[in-house]
Amino acid sequence: MNQEEPLYPCSFVIFGATGHLAATKLLPALYKLEAQARLPDVTNFIAFARRNWDDKAWCTHMEQSLRLQSGERFDAELFRKFSARFSYVAGDLADPQAYKRLMDELGRPKTGVCSNIVFYLAIKPSDFTAVANNLAAVGLNRPRGLHRVVVEKPFGEDLESAQVLNEVLHRHFDEQQIFRIDHYLGKETVQNLLVFRFANLLIEPLWNRNYIDHVQITVGESAGIGTRADYYDKTGALRDMLQNHMMQLLTLVAMEPPPALEADALRDEKVKVLRSIRSIPRRALHAHAFRAQYRAGIVDGKQVAGYQDEAGVEPGSVTETFVAAKFLIDNWRWRGVPFYLRTGKRLQRQTSAIAIRFRHPPQQLFSETPLENMDPNWIVLSIQPSENMHLEIHAKQPGLGMRTHMIQMDAGYRGDGERPIDAYEALLLDIVRGDATNFIRFDEVEWAWRVVDPILKFWAQERDFIPSYSAGTWGPEESDRLFEWDYQTWRDGL
Ligand code: BG6
Repeated sequence: MNQEEPLYPCSFVIFGATGHLAATKLLPALYKLEAQARLPDVTNFIAFARRNWDDKAWCTHMEQSLRLQSGERFDAELFRKFSARFSYVAGDLADPQAYKRLMDELGRPKTGVCSNIVFYLAIKPSDFTAVANNLAAVGLNRPRGLHRVVVEKPFGEDLESAQVLNEVLHRHFDEQQIFRIDHYLGKETVQNLLVFRFANLLIEPLWNRNYIDHVQITVGESAGIGTRADYYDKTGALRDMLQNHMMQLLTLVAMEPPPALEADALRDEKVKVLRSIRSIPRRALHAHAFRAQYRAGIVDGKQVAGYQDEAGVEPGSVTETFVAAKFLIDNWRWRGVPFYLRTGKRLQRQTSAIAIRFRHPPQQLFSETPLENMDPNWIVLSIQPSENMHLEIHAKQPGLGMRTHMIQMDAGYRGDGERPIDAYEALLLDIVRGDATNFIRFDEVEWAWRVVDPILKFWAQERDFIPSYSAGTWGPEESDRLFEWDYQTWRDGL
């Protein structure tokens, strides 16, 4: 859908408004939309949380939080306009009375009544059921076309719990009302993958097992778990990052061209990829998946604590903060091409990239070039922090003789002065418009759980030990055991 189209007026309810997600992602994104004049005057927000506050206390809290996030860009005048759209409802998520108060508030918003209502569940997954039941009890799940519920990942904690959660949501909401958000799909560089693959004729013929040796997807974070031990220690990197964000990246790299750029057409192709991923038998698990946890170390020149010493982590926890895994896709395009995925907290740098390594040419014509210089071609699509496409190809080494050397070409996606769009900004606009293209359908969730469930089950039984790595490194060398061939290694930088 065209992002420039005007928005429908909307009431936007944030459950968990005082939480980490609201503070770091949702409120800053909504505030930026205000700054760009993308919010119709009637649009209003209701912050729902447990603290016994009134509107004024909420606005003071929100101001502090946005000042922290926006730094010097904080604009007091703009904030006045933004905060005037908010009201605060204090209540427990499990308390039916609180939803009656929410109903009343929706009936008398500060800016005018809207029939379009979004309920954003920025809360722990274990609270989703209570909210869905309570919204339905006061009739807020209707009308079907206009009221939507947004669910954050992880959707469930394994296949079975995801199915149960889906059933609960479907008891009260239609599939078209449920927006399962994965903010990676809102990142421009991730969306660019589709353009890169399907708008360039020269890429697609090479994009298969005949030319590609393997694919590496790395999402590296230098940050630790911060204040999120309560969530993270029960979740781990496999559920927090790999089952959702990284599986989505994998599907976008591997999928067939969809017949149209429409929500279901796109999602059908992604599901086909997930269904084709070879399931990992128990006896082969060590060769396919590796986990580890960070020790103390130095990141960005600063000494940082190890995971075990982070506030709120259970003593002796074996929760993984690093995961590396190998997946094989059994279809005509990809059979025999390993996809290596790796993500971790407290790694050396904040870097996310998709690196495609090509095969060698069938014949080595340039015999003057030492073999060790005959690196194959790579395409690296850098997602963050830099946003570019990097190509490594051979060219003649200047001078006498016919030697080759590798040259590197970098192309940025963004021109000078083009503002980067925050993933949440883009997705919030989609939600308000009801465009589900960049949201996850339940069968995607289900198949992604089927892929990672054997790993989860295996690790759940290995409770005594987890390998570790120093904070500030790229994770333990043992993760190299996943590579099919000796010449394959992790690309740690661009
Ligand atoms: C979230 C995870 O979904 O994604 C976090 O819960 C992680 O643990 C974050 O840090 C990474 O997102 P981004 O956009 O910073 O790469």
